[in-house]
Amino acid sequence: MQTLWDDRYALRTYSMKGSAIRELLKFTQMPDVISFAGGMPAPEIFPVEEFKEACIRVLDAHGPEALQYGTTEGYLPLREMISRHTNQYGIKVTADNIMITNGSQQALDLLGKIFINPGDRILVESPTYLGALQAWNTYNAQYITVPSDGDGIQVDKLEMALRAGPKFMYILPNFQNPTGVTIPLERRQKLVELADQYGVPIIEDDPYGQLRFEGKHLPTLEYLDDQLYGNNGNYHGNVVYLSTFSKILAPGIRLAWVVATPEIIQKLVMAKQGADLHTSTFNQIVAYEVSRQGFLDKHIKRIIDVYRERRDIMLEELEKNMPEGVTWTKPSGGLFLWALLPEQCNSQELLKIAVEQKVAFVPGNAFFPNGGGDNTMRLNFSNSQPDMIRIGIKRLAQAIKSSIC
Ligand SMILES: Cc1ncc(COP(=O)(O)O)c(C=O)c1O
Repeated sequence: MQTLWDDRYALRTYSMKGSAIRELLKFTQMPDVISFAGGMPAPEIFPVEEFKEACIRVLDAHGPEALQYGTTEGYLPLREMISRHTNQYGIKVTADNIMITNGSQQALDLLGKIFINPGDRILVESPTYLGALQAWNTYNAQYITVPSDGDGIQVDKLEMALRAGPKFMYILPNFQNPTGVTIPLERRQKLVELADQYGVPIIEDDPYGQLRFEGKHLPTLEYLDDQLYGNNGNYHGNVVYLSTFSKILAPGIRLAWVVATPEIIQKLVMAKQGADLHTSTFNQIVAYEVSRQGFLDKHIKRIIDVYRERRDIMLEELEKNMPEGVTWTKPSGGLFLWALLPEQCNSQELLKIAVEQKVAFVPGNAFFPNGGGDNTMRLNFSNSQPDMIRIGIKRLAQAIKSSIC
């Protein structure tokens, strides 16, 4: 239908693209398709009862406050809880360093809003999280890509990219979305050293760091940057750190947090005021109520047990069923693994055949901002029950075998 709005769209809307992943979510709604496509947690372990009880407690004890407008920075006890959590990892921050957002996705958007001018170049891993590209395309960002391998971003290729003058780097150090890989300590150290040498700040996006199935927690880039400056554990500020309740509690509550200097927080606050005034007071107080008194730690252990089993089953089935020439990552945590098909294969074409065989995945090319990755795919293991993983991987292997590649 034609209206008077038709030729009035802002220029920035022309660089907006719909998320390929959101499009794919429609497959997850088809009952007979086994979907490894979305990035969704296992719904059967959402703490529904705990939320129900917390809602009643919150309404009984803080009803009017929970239903009232709140501060843009977020609910103070929740920010204090997050600052204590951050302090456990050796980074001294206070609630003044923390802002609550509507998911990390909003934090990415707000960071784009305050830092990106049209044409600014952002250094990203290739592949990288599609949602960040989607947020920053709106601000007409350009991307300098640095390839990753089984150990994440290849730091030996970083210097050339840093010389191209990026505004900041965007790095996902733990169980990366989409590849599932983790950057080892040595690379992390080199990365913060180079960032310092070239004067380029870092956005560290860490939704999955707490979902480690085995091995030891690795220090965050934020921590290593503080150490580099011999700051006695005080937050130094060159690394803006993001994490979220989406993968450790529930994504539907849309709660995440940013750790940054009070100066950056102040700018983010102004940007957020223009967007939505603040994150839902009710959700924040309920999430605080659910998380406190040790529940969150217990719940994370449960999630880890469930996802570890699913990861193991997916790896086992891939090993048993995949034809020669297909390889995949073996993540030690998180929600995803990444498969590489033989060079001549196109995973977008393969998806059509796979869907006919009633299985779905995300073709990997969407995660490469400057093109490439046509023979790659992301597989999610958190959202399918073990039997479905077994059947789904067999179907996928069949689709690969029967396709042109
Ligand atoms: C790397 C990364 N960043 C941010 C997000 C957004 O998460 P949220 O639900 O907190 O908006 C996701 C979600 O999958 C993600 O994988």
